[in-house]
Amino acid sequence: MKRVILVTGSGSGIGKATALRFAESGGSVIINDINEEAGNQVVSEIEETGGNALFVLADISDPKQVKTIFETAKDTFGEIEVLVNNAGVPGKFSLISDMPDETWHKTIAVHLSGSFFCMREAAPRMMANRYGRIINISSIAGLNGAVGSAEYGAAKSGIINLAMTASRELGQYNITVNAIAPGMVRTSINAELYEKKNPFIQKALDDASSGRMTQPQEIAELIYFLCTEAASNINGEVIRIDGGAQLGTSLDAFMLEFLGKKSPSVQNMK
Ligand SMILES: NC(=O)c1ccc[n+]([C@@H]2O[C@H](COP(=O)([O-])OP(=O)(O)OC[C@H]3O[C@@H](n4cnc5c(N)ncnc54)[C@H](O)[C@@H]3O)[C@@H](O)[C@H]2O)c1
Repeated sequence: MKRVILVTGSGSGIGKATALRFAESGGSVIINDINEEAGNQVVSEIEETGGNALFVLADISDPKQVKTIFETAKDTFGEIEVLVNNAGVPGKFSLISDMPDETWHKTIAVHLSGSFFCMREAAPRMMANRYGRIINISSIAGLNGAVGSAEYGAAKSGIINLAMTASRELGQYNITVNAIAPGMVRTSINAELYEKKNPFIQKALDDASSGRMTQPQEIAELIYFLCTEAASNINGEVIRIDGGAQLGTSLDAFMLEFLGKKSPSVQNMK
């Protein structure tokens, strides 16, 4: 796909897998992250295999830095045609009743405001080009809520809603805007829990009828598909990819126990 693609937070995990997927198909990929070393490493990997990539160090929760990403991309590869709103921070588990302001503001700033700033910057450029693909990486938490992570669930619901509105505002310009709602994906966000065989991970796996976590590459393939011609009439959709986990409510009791009683069985989540 010979397009110009921005993947936010592509220094690791789902974003990195997505960047590699687009690069291997001939795209020019903007790698963005707040982790400079990780971002440059992804660019090196892409260039070593003959691909085109550029790293832009920027915090997407700052609209000025978001503008810089788009301007730098334009000067190097041309206007961004595909935007993958992926950057994210792990939440700090807490019930609504105990949630500090800081936890709320940080998650909303990166996941919700950051995605909005990128969409606002992308929209007029894509409208002028009469082409665009935007994919917001939400979560099953955005569909079901998330006990112990209300701020994360709210932000992830928000970006589904943004995708729905944008799909209706921009569809007439040959722009599609969709959301993906992964269940548990094995990335650096949960690597430590996974390696320690933390019971939280087992609960998440119990929820998935496939009995396994989704791999970052599987999310990347779905994102890539949404940018192909075959998917050009899919617009304003939210697609789960969670191994059949559906409601994910078996985690609720576990999380309530963890946050309320702090039983020894869940101490090692901290
Ligand atoms: N891993 C999962 O189980 C899972 C499940 C559902 C949804 N998601 C979502 O997938 C997306 C990617 O997460 P991941 O699992 O690959 O985690 P990850 O930690 O591997 O990747 C997130 C990247 O975003 C970067 N980042 C953080 N704040 C940023 C900012 N302000 N500006 C730019 N970059 C920033 C981080 O440095 C990191 O490289 C996130 O939005 C996450 O909420 C993950």
